[in-house]
Amino acid sequence: MNVLIIGSGGREHAIAWKVSQSPKLSKLFIAPGNAGTREVGTNLNIGVSDFEGIKKAVLENQIELVVVGPEVPLVEGIHDFFLADEQLKDVGVIGPVKAAAMLEGSKNFAKEFMGKYNIPTAAYKTFTNESLAEGIAFLKTLIPPYVLKADGLAAGKGVIISESFEEASTELREMLGSQKFGDASAKVVIEEFLDGIELSVFVITDGKSYKILPVAKDYKRIGEGDTGLNTGGMGSISHVPFADDAFMQKIEDMVIKPTIDGLNAEGMNYKGFIFFGLIKVNDIPYVIEYNARMGDPETESVIPRVKNDFLEILIATAENRLEECSIEIDERQSVSIMLVSGGYPGSYPKGKIITGFDQAGDSILFHAGTTLNENGEIVTSGGRVIAITSYGEDMEEALKKSYAVAEKIKFEGKYYRKDLGQDLKKYI
Ligand code: AMP
Ligand code: GLY
Repeated sequence: MNVLIIGSGGREHAIAWKVSQSPKLSKLFIAPGNAGTREVGTNLNIGVSDFEGIKKAVLENQIELVVVGPEVPLVEGIHDFFLADEQLKDVGVIGPVKAAAMLEGSKNFAKEFMGKYNIPTAAYKTFTNESLAEGIAFLKTLIPPYVLKADGLAAGKGVIISESFEEASTELREMLGSQKFGDASAKVVIEEFLDGIELSVFVITDGKSYKILPVAKDYKRIGEGDTGLNTGGMGSISHVPFADDAFMQKIEDMVIKPTIDGLNAEGMNYKGFIFFGLIKVNDIPYVIEYNARMGDPETESVIPRVKNDFLEILIATAENRLEECSIEIDERQSVSIMLVSGGYPGSYPKGKIITGFDQAGDSILFHAGTTLNENGEIVTSGGRVIAITSYGEDMEEALKKSYAVAEKIKFEGKYYRKDLGQDLKKYI
């Protein structure tokens, strides 16, 4: 089977790496991909929102299965585009249709959905520019910190958490009144702050059956000790020691099952990944957010722990046969450390030559922001550059391996957090 993976990050490299190991694979394409994905398949220079370009590539290369990595094409309706096209309608697409991708595409939609199906989440209210005054009045009734969320997609920047009422109300005015995030902040969800520890749970579903993938924790802030600005993610760890069997059962009963049942009750045929961003508060899993895709950088530690032929799972999902599969999980611990460009998540230089690829030992290098320069050298092209994934019998061993490689991969301005996993030690 010929397969196309859409996207260009570490997540897509990890999926491509795994799919490339399948005996069921004939040819693998990645659009647009990066300098790493070209080692396991053929990169196609097509943007993730260029549906006509994607259609042409699918037909030219006889692609039978498309895996959509990022949220933007999902929320823009890529799966609907395939279903509505006579030539594409039989191509399998892993990723929900637009209406179901709204679980990620609209925070207000997700909150209403959770309310309707009794899924634990923070108490909230939604406001528009017309109800700005009520929004400010509502803020006054809350105990800080205040949590403000732009309703739509805002490239991971749409959540503001503030200790100060002044700052929160200014923020609310900017989001609603001045459309700080454009249409994405035409509505703002204000919600109760939840104090607990976060984890990411991933499910693949064909709409009826679902399988739980390994759980992970990601590290969002740029600075050690979870300080400084939010990033796309500075690394991830799988398994998460506090997610024991009893807690996982609660997650399944209180969150996963009601979500799948709710999607069915709404008449939505959800085919693809659901990413549950959870926070554990008093031993209850609350949903912080849904995403309609795998996480990045969680995928870089989660996928290496899936022992199955992953393409087989994806095909079964596309063909509504997921029920027949069972996921086998590698019991080893995996850890993925992200090397980023100096200055990220603010502005940073690009085009820095990367060396040390032959120093990875048995760690796996998943490329994110990398490309080839005119001399064929691998250079940086993004904020997040390379994820270094290692296995270990325990977290300590996996961390040690990834950190040893992190020193050997070199590029000007390289930065990474050196404290991954420290917060989890107390749970082991
Ligand atoms: P998001 O962009 O939706 O992933 O949110 C970014 C981060 O904000 C989450 O990972 C949490 O750390 C934090 N967050 C979001 N909602 C809440 C909440 N209600 N209480 C506490 N922290 C939150
Ligand atoms: N790691 C968080 C995300 O992918 O949104």
